[in-house]
Amino acid sequence: MCGIVGYLGDSNAKDIVLEGLHKLEYRGYDSAGISLYNLEAGVFDMFKDKGRVDHLASLLQDVHGSTVGIGHTRWATHGKVNRANAHPHLSSSKRFIVVHNGVIENYRMLKRDFLSHVRLESETDTEVIVHLIEMFAQTMEAPEAIHETLKLLEGSYALLVLDQQRPNRLIAAKNKSPLLIGRSDRGYIVASDLMALGKHSADYAPLEDYTMTVIERDKLAIYNRDYIEATLAFEPMDFDEDSAERGPYPHFMLKEIMEQPLVVRKILSHYFDEETLVINEAIVHDLRESDRIHILAAGTSMHAGLIGKHLFKILTGKPVEVHIASEFAYNPPALSDKPAFLMISQSGETADLRACMSHIREVNQPVVTLTNVRTSTLAREADHKMELLAGPEIAVASTKAYTAQLVVLTLLAYAVGKQRFNIKQELSTLAHAMETYLAKYERIDTLAKTVLTKPNAFYIGRGLDYAVALEAALKLKEISYIHAEGFAAGELKHGTIALIEENTPVFGIISDKRIALNTRSNLDEVKSRGARTVIIALESLSEEEDDIVLPDVHPLLVPVMTVLPTQLIAYYAALHRGCDIDKPRNLAKSVTVE
Ligand code: G6P
Repeated sequence: MCGIVGYLGDSNAKDIVLEGLHKLEYRGYDSAGISLYNLEAGVFDMFKDKGRVDHLASLLQDVHGSTVGIGHTRWATHGKVNRANAHPHLSSSKRFIVVHNGVIENYRMLKRDFLSHVRLESETDTEVIVHLIEMFAQTMEAPEAIHETLKLLEGSYALLVLDQQRPNRLIAAKNKSPLLIGRSDRGYIVASDLMALGKHSADYAPLEDYTMTVIERDKLAIYNRDYIEATLAFEPMDFDEDSAERGPYPHFMLKEIMEQPLVVRKILSHYFDEETLVINEAIVHDLRESDRIHILAAGTSMHAGLIGKHLFKILTGKPVEVHIASEFAYNPPALSDKPAFLMISQSGETADLRACMSHIREVNQPVVTLTNVRTSTLAREADHKMELLAGPEIAVASTKAYTAQLVVLTLLAYAVGKQRFNIKQELSTLAHAMETYLAKYERIDTLAKTVLTKPNAFYIGRGLDYAVALEAALKLKEISYIHAEGFAAGELKHGTIALIEENTPVFGIISDKRIALNTRSNLDEVKSRGARTVIIALESLSEEEDDIVLPDVHPLLVPVMTVLPTQLIAYYAALHRGCDIDKPRNLAKSVTVE
């Protein structure tokens, strides 16, 4: 979704802001814009258009050194994808320049009550902000005018504001949308994602909700909601720049698929002290004391939650419910006396989960967030957090964050439960088995090419295999745009089998001995109606004709193994169809609007 970068300092603002926008591309966007201080002319210039950051960069070829600038990538929510709606937005006199992430829910009302005399240039909710600032600035200093404007805004915002009258000042403000500030001896950088702060920050701090930050070269002032000066706690930047590079791989997605064994090992070394599993005791206590665990998540993370439910059932015997976050937020179930909540979110910023948080806070029960971004909003709002340690995931379609979620959920369920087996050993065996399988990853290429020739495809399985089938189908849809559905193997015959035609691809996942034959007979049912079946089976359950045979691993860890070929199938299907694999159409990495 939208991304923000701003810079003020001694380095070249153009280079730093453009580089930051490139780093934010992975989040998904449709337009990009920038405003830079033109040292010769003594004004801020603005450039924006629909399309990629590379296109924006081409518009800046004749722009030279600058010391202050702000940039934005827009993912349309209010108004079409066009130049007028792209950020930055200007006030009527062009004095103020604004970029904004988030949604101003009351923008229509603000327009009607305060700006009826103003001609708006765009269809965005953002534009009201810059006009309100200008309105208040008629009678007060700019920081105060911004503060007065913020008081009127309902919704979410991360904002950067420039003022033509004070070019050596950059003002940032936020509520509900993430915004971080980094500093070094060369200056300040403000961005909506740690990725863009990167190597330009020696240390950094996430800004708190309802704060406003006034940045000047030799002074940083933070104001709280009441416009009283506050402080910020900076921490050293520990971002590993290399982990966000594509390296020798043609796509981030392939790189991230291949990194998965490494992620399992990283999780092992983080959560184990020698042979002892170390999980925050307060988390274990809160989950043990609860009478029901509610897992809340969206998209791929929700699919990880479905597997988490099985893991908790088997290892702890506790009742667990999995909820789609956007449903729970406004239609929560009747809650028991002592529920506990597990939020699973790669980004830690998903707006649907933030909407759940408001409801959960009313019942005053423990919340644990499992996230890949330690500083994320959901991590900070929860009582406890557990890190996924997958490293930056750049491809929009989640792969290594999903497997990290499965592994961390397994460790958590193991810690909460009382069953004992050598989980560390089993996870090491898993990492090795994943590596063995992935070493031959190119074999999937031909299979994907020859099988996925139709506009529809199905994945089927039972139990844990069904949960993996849902994720496998989502991955295929997301990046190859083939319509795919995941089905409980036994349910297909109750209606959906009507869609099976000659050569419709049906992938069957078989990893559970108790039900392997049932799934096989479901595959036979569709095969006899013309389907092209592809069987993915564990070695111990495989038959001679099976297409993909995977090494056996501990039964609770099987989904981490069976999902691998499905990720590769999606990858190669998208490759053969010429799709933009890392940045699929219409999708965003972190969905910060409901
Ligand atoms: C978006 C992404 C999905 C992701 C979902 C939940 O829709 O495109 O890949 O699974 O958000 O994101 P989260 O960051 O909360 O895991």
